[in-house]
Amino acid sequence: MKFDYFAPRSRKRPRGAIPVGRRGYRAGWVVPRAHRSDAADDDEPRRWHGAEPIFLPGIAKAGLPSFRTDIARSRQLYRTVLADGDCSSRLLRAPFRNRLQTKFELLGTVNHENDPQEIITLEFDGLRRGRIDAEDLWCKISWLSFEPGDASLRFRFSFGLVHYENVAADLARQQYSAKLTEALFPESALITRNRRLLSRLRQIVGRPDLAFVERIVYFNAPRGGAEFHQDVERGHLGVVYAQVTGRTFWLALAKEQLIRALRDFSYTPDWAEAVTRLPASGQQLTKVVRNARRCNALLDAHDRNDDLLAIINRTPQWNRYLIEQGHGYLLQPGDALLLPQHDVDRCAWHSVFCPDEQPGEGLSFALRSIA
Ligand SMILES: [Fe+2]
Repeated sequence: MKFDYFAPRSRKRPRGAIPVGRRGYRAGWVVPRAHRSDAADDDEPRRWHGAEPIFLPGIAKAGLPSFRTDIARSRQLYRTVLADGDCSSRLLRAPFRNRLQTKFELLGTVNHENDPQEIITLEFDGLRRGRIDAEDLWCKISWLSFEPGDASLRFRFSFGLVHYENVAADLARQQYSAKLTEALFPESALITRNRRLLSRLRQIVGRPDLAFVERIVYFNAPRGGAEFHQDVERGHLGVVYAQVTGRTFWLALAKEQLIRALRDFSYTPDWAEAVTRLPASGQQLTKVVRNARRCNALLDAHDRNDDLLAIINRTPQWNRYLIEQGHGYLLQPGDALLLPQHDVDRCAWHSVFCPDEQPGEGLSFALRSIA
């Protein structure tokens, strides 16, 4: 999408400019410029294979009115978690009890002390004809950050041991936890039973056998969101994110584009200025980002890339650069963004900002082939 960008302290920004910032960091303001076309584009399969994000404006919009009540209940569930740090007792009452009945049994709640972002995990068994058919299903509710003022949280649905299990190898349980998402958040169907989206995805990905697994329902609170990251997971092809309520502003691009953009940005005066704010060791960064192989490796080196992350997450001039290069996306209710995640070298990196004064809901489902 095309935007006009205004610096954080700009006095000239027009009315209706959208603030881009996150947890005290102000990246600037944007005003959407171009007309949004929702027509399919022949270039999409090439973009998919190149791991570039694909914007699908309005693709889930027609379904929104039929889920109005469910969406309002989901918001109440989010508020219950904020107020009580738990929502399990709410699930024992209508309408949740009826939706779970015969299909899932809520076993109880656990807190994992080794996970400081976790608020609570709800544990379930999957039932078939009254008998247990899938064990160890869970919905993990976590904060998105440690910032005291950030009320962003997510409901993540999966099963088994986090980080230890190859979840893609157990399609049956993956599909049980996918169904559990639909029992708690029926508006998931905005993605999963959206014919227009499904046929577009099949066309883009070039496969007929797609399923939505490892589902996450986000509630992005004002000034919350996510810093730059990718979502590569074994056995998954990518992620579909759909905006249900509120708006999110994204910076998203293929890793290869990110590496190229960093190299080009490193020749600008804005880079020189950004680097002066880094510790002395940060001066080496210029050399690294001008070497594609080293830059690629540094993006993945979670234990030693703080300086690089400081540049890509907290430098308004870099954000302006990406926005002017066409890597910004404003998602409104009914819009979706497809983020290819082929492998660590071919994946869409993305960063999310929440411009509204109210929390908004978003669905983020992994895409896999079930062949
Ligand atoms: Fe992500």
